[in-house]
Amino acid sequence: MSTVTSPDPRPAGLAQLRRPLPADQAEPLTREIQELKRTLKAVILAHNYQVPEIQDVADFVGDSLGLAQQAAKTNAEVIVFCGVHFMAETAKILNPTKTVVLPDQDAGCSLEESCPAEQLAALQQTNPNFYTIAYINCSAAVKALSDCICTSGNAERIVRAAPRDRDLLFVPDENLGQWVMETTGRSMRLWKGDCYVHVEFRKESLQQIRDAHPQTPIVAHPECRKEVRDLADAVCSTERMITFCKTHPARQFVVVTESGIIHRLQKECPDKTFLPAPVYDVLRLPTDNCRCSECKYMKMNTLEKVRDCMKHRSPRIELPADILDRARRPIERMLEISARPLENAG
Ligand code: 13P
Ligand code: SF4
Repeated sequence: MSTVTSPDPRPAGLAQLRRPLPADQAEPLTREIQELKRTLKAVILAHNYQVPEIQDVADFVGDSLGLAQQAAKTNAEVIVFCGVHFMAETAKILNPTKTVVLPDQDAGCSLEESCPAEQLAALQQTNPNFYTIAYINCSAAVKALSDCICTSGNAERIVRAAPRDRDLLFVPDENLGQWVMETTGRSMRLWKGDCYVHVEFRKESLQQIRDAHPQTPIVAHPECRKEVRDLADAVCSTERMITFCKTHPARQFVVVTESGIIHRLQKECPDKTFLPAPVYDVLRLPTDNCRCSECKYMKMNTLEKVRDCMKHRSPRIELPADILDRARRPIERMLEISARPLENAG
């Protein structure tokens, strides 16, 4: 069965959204998945960028931090992780004896690819005083080389809590690292990685939207370029975007991140309108028929693959024992710092 969907007819200049899987295809699969969930004693965790029908069948939908927190406390025997590979690995690291399955094992991440563990180890050799903070969008092997993990939801807090006498090395997202340097005033050596989706947003296309809708707040993910972050009214993780839009009095928002989040925003704020920001085409011109800002990796997971990975308990995440052990410490450090009351966070 194909899950390819056609775009919706939004006005020119705004990104097109994919349509959800038609109900006659989604419903039988959803019923099968719910039955498998009962028999396997499974929990389904889904990232905010997953296709609508996966978000709708999940037990929890959230950002990387929320998903890691859920994985750390689940009693389920099987974790069905609907996100990308590094997120499922994090769940496995926190639950080494449990079965963790990922609907599509090729669901990777450009940030993870940008930072091979051997290259990081070589850089670390150049300065024994480095304190390495790794954005969670990295491999388990990179986590195992790190002092503390962060997500976009807690990066500022993790950097503020880092030892003052160490030289900070932040990997692999240069844009997130730059943003945290701006907000904390702490200088860091930055790895030169980026998210191939978020760097496609450019100030010219956002300025056009701002000119057309001057009263509409713009919310952007910190993986965006500085030129885009500087135009935004709020820079935040996907989960905080949802809180921002829920609590802000405005009725309409421009959302500068992967477009999968619009489904959750519309569900949680049914009386508000969300305009997905357009990306630029290859000529760096605003397109009249804007592409959806989609992460090809996040969109590899389909409802059918969720059903199949539960049926076959595969693809399954497996990691060497030493990586599991070494990668757990920096993740637990992040969870511990994130759980501190705010006044003790530093
Ligand atoms: P969040 O943790 O903000 O959901 O971001 C994850 C991600 O992959 C952004 O591209
Ligand atoms: Fe990685 Fe970017 Fe996709 Fe997030 S949106 S999973 S950072 S490639």
